[in-house]
Amino acid sequence: MSVEKPVRVGVIGAGMMGSGHASCVAQSARGELMAIADVDLGRAKEMADHHGAAAYAGHGELLVGEDADAVIVCTPDWAHREVCVDAAAAGKHVLVEKPLAMTLEDCDAIIKACDEAGVVLMVGQILRFDPRYGAVKAVLESGEIGDMSYLYARRSNTLLQPRRFEGRTTVLHYLAVHDVDWMLWAMGEPVTEVYAAASRKALTDLGVDDSVFLTLKFASGAVGCIQVAWILPEQASHNLDAYLEVTGTKGALFIDTPNAGVRFESQRPSRIDTTYGFAVGGQTGGALREEVEHFLRCVQEGGEPLIDGRQARAAVAVVEAAAESVRTGQPVRLPAP
Ligand SMILES: NC(=O)c1ccc[n+]([C@@H]2O[C@H](COP(=O)([O-])OP(=O)(O)OC[C@H]3O[C@@H](n4cnc5c(N)ncnc54)[C@H](O)[C@@H]3O)[C@@H](O)[C@H]2O)c1
Repeated sequence: MSVEKPVRVGVIGAGMMGSGHASCVAQSARGELMAIADVDLGRAKEMADHHGAAAYAGHGELLVGEDADAVIVCTPDWAHREVCVDAAAAGKHVLVEKPLAMTLEDCDAIIKACDEAGVVLMVGQILRFDPRYGAVKAVLESGEIGDMSYLYARRSNTLLQPRRFEGRTTVLHYLAVHDVDWMLWAMGEPVTEVYAAASRKALTDLGVDDSVFLTLKFASGAVGCIQVAWILPEQASHNLDAYLEVTGTKGALFIDTPNAGVRFESQRPSRIDTTYGFAVGGQTGGALREEVEHFLRCVQEGGEPLIDGRQARAAVAVVEAAAESVRTGQPVRLPAP
């Protein structure tokens, strides 16, 4: 595509993430927000009216009705495959929210459809665009902390998340996939074995786990531990409580996410985001904007996305192995990639 021409984009799924993606496209010089689609047409219309875009009741109508170059797929975790495959078949470049899909079979179908259509496939693994996680990766690569020994990551959400998804996704697919992808990327080597254990006390009515603790063995002998949970009280002052520690033979790095640099105490849950998606002077900034800009640049200039379908699939493979380990109580070995 010509670098002079903005990428015409349709956003599919007008929920929490769709809203953020739509604003990023609308404010980008590289993008033109053409349309919003949602199975809930009222929701699509509300967002479309806000941006002066067209609204559709489903992805099929958007693909037929709009001459878009690309789509951003922000449907829930279990509704990525059909939308992405249809979009690729219609010749649209695809940015799909994480996880690429909830099964490896669905991941493969999406990758194949995009390969066959010759379109860009990028996955919204947002930690790759978080400057703190990027800075840690750069130090690891510099060799300054020596040989990697262990990594530890924690990611907790409040009960709002599992409740709104009504048991249709899991804490592994929704949360763990973030840290698994980041660890695979930062380590630059595969996970060879996964062991995981889960607790299920608060979410028995939904039939999903409250928390999962994963132990990952890397090919080099380094060990990773990821702790994910989504049962913090809804009133918690942070919707996201995340932490990262990486330790090598010569040093260590730490990220403490709840420390956003701003503390807000009030009569209701009050959270300030200074990293992922915030507005300054009406302009959206943060990791989500960087992610969307990267995708638009890849489409315009023909570059390889920082996170493509195959890399995103590798994270889903680890998550799936963890789910199997929870079910069987045994460590699961992963096939060599
Ligand atoms: N990168 C991140 O940090 C981050 C954070 C939260 C969620 N997510 C991911 O973003 C995706 C969307 O999450 P969300 O929180 O925005 O969900 P949401 O429930 O707020 O929004 C999803 C929207 O998709 C619509 N929808 C469902 N099926 C559809 C279909 N087949 N076609 C068109 N519309 C459909 C729903 O009506 C809803 O409006 C998920 O995959 C989730 O894991 C990413």
